[in-house]
Amino acid sequence: SYNGLNLVPQMGWDNWNAFGCDVNESLLLNTAQAMVNFGLRDLGYKYVVLDDCWSSGRNESGYLIANPVKFPNGMKHVATALHNMGLKFGMYSSAGKWTCGRFPGSLGYEQKDADLWASWEVDYLKYDNCFNQGQSGTPKLSFDRYNVMSEALNKTGRPMVYSLCNWGNDDPYDWAYTISNSGRMSGDIYDQFNRPDARCPCTESIGCAWPGFHCSVMNILNKMAAITSRTMSGYFNDMDMLEVGNGGQTDSEYVVHFSFWALMSSPLLIGTHVPTLSPANLAILSNPAIIALNQDPSATGAVRKWQYFMDPDENGQGEIALWTRDLHNGDVAIALLNAANSAHTLNATMDQIFLDPRTAGAYKEPVQLRQSWHVYDLWANRMTEAEASAIINGTMNGTAAITNTNSTINPR
Ligand code: GLA
Repeated sequence: SYNGLNLVPQMGWDNWNAFGCDVNESLLLNTAQAMVNFGLRDLGYKYVVLDDCWSSGRNESGYLIANPVKFPNGMKHVATALHNMGLKFGMYSSAGKWTCGRFPGSLGYEQKDADLWASWEVDYLKYDNCFNQGQSGTPKLSFDRYNVMSEALNKTGRPMVYSLCNWGNDDPYDWAYTISNSGRMSGDIYDQFNRPDARCPCTESIGCAWPGFHCSVMNILNKMAAITSRTMSGYFNDMDMLEVGNGGQTDSEYVVHFSFWALMSSPLLIGTHVPTLSPANLAILSNPAIIALNQDPSATGAVRKWQYFMDPDENGQGEIALWTRDLHNGDVAIALLNAANSAHTLNATMDQIFLDPRTAGAYKEPVQLRQSWHVYDLWANRMTEAEASAIINGTMNGTAAITNTNSTINPR
């Protein structure tokens, strides 16, 4: 980690997916209280991130002003209230002249803004890409622009997680780990499981024009397949905020969405109205075994072992796939994904699970020595918190499996 922070993916909440620009103090504090009451804070969701549209301009000295109608008590008050609840406070700006919502951006004001946030006791910055004055288009241009803020944050002396949001432009997974703690790798998520990739231009690396790009869960997952090795402790590829609870997908699609965001070590930022979460969706976000996968110190993404298109739908999608991930204690996470439109029986052989196409080698120790494996279905046989942490702490031998509907795992 470039600054010693975020050794496992950040978890928390961000208002953008559900509320957009409709932000204010009570939204944040009511959400925070619900996160505490529902046990989400204690499961690890710690950062309460205020997204765009919180400011009302700059004062004569060039310092940002918190909108006095939305935040009548100022930002320091919000930070203190969150800290008193055992939570942390995230702030938003853009590495541009304006934010995406056309509020003042931080380009040219990096140190002033970082100092102000530090004085407010902010713990986290999400830093966007809008109105970047043409300072993009090559990795170097983006690196230099985002690095100014990275250095400004460091200079404040206050530890702040730095979450870069440049939509995967200029391949942040190649360079952002030296200056930040996470980097968005796609265009903005849209609350839909499947949609044509053409509606998600960022996955095609042809640039993003806000607000005209929308990525489905499957668009983002399939782009992640190629950059799985570019996630590491201290720097995580950010698949964008969660849509669980927002109503555009079925509960079982939200199970897939949450499972893969966890499995790929993406940041897990809840993106819905927490106080009114349905019991089913709260249960998805609270599955301790899936959260434990996300927070496993291995801090890597999963590898896709195979993918077949069974019954392509109107979006040309409809796949089944096997993904696996080695956990730090020798357990293996397995995800059998049925994103097709009909039921399929999915099988994963031991060879498929354990042979890594990237190394084309033999089984790794101690895998080849094991005669049998315990298989846990982390959704169907939902584990308790204690069992999940036993897996992570290595006291339980076996394979951690997460599966979608109609899946079976056949030992060799
Ligand atoms: C961009 C970001 C979003 C959100 C909005 C706010 O689109 O990618 O996550 O922060 O800006 O305007």
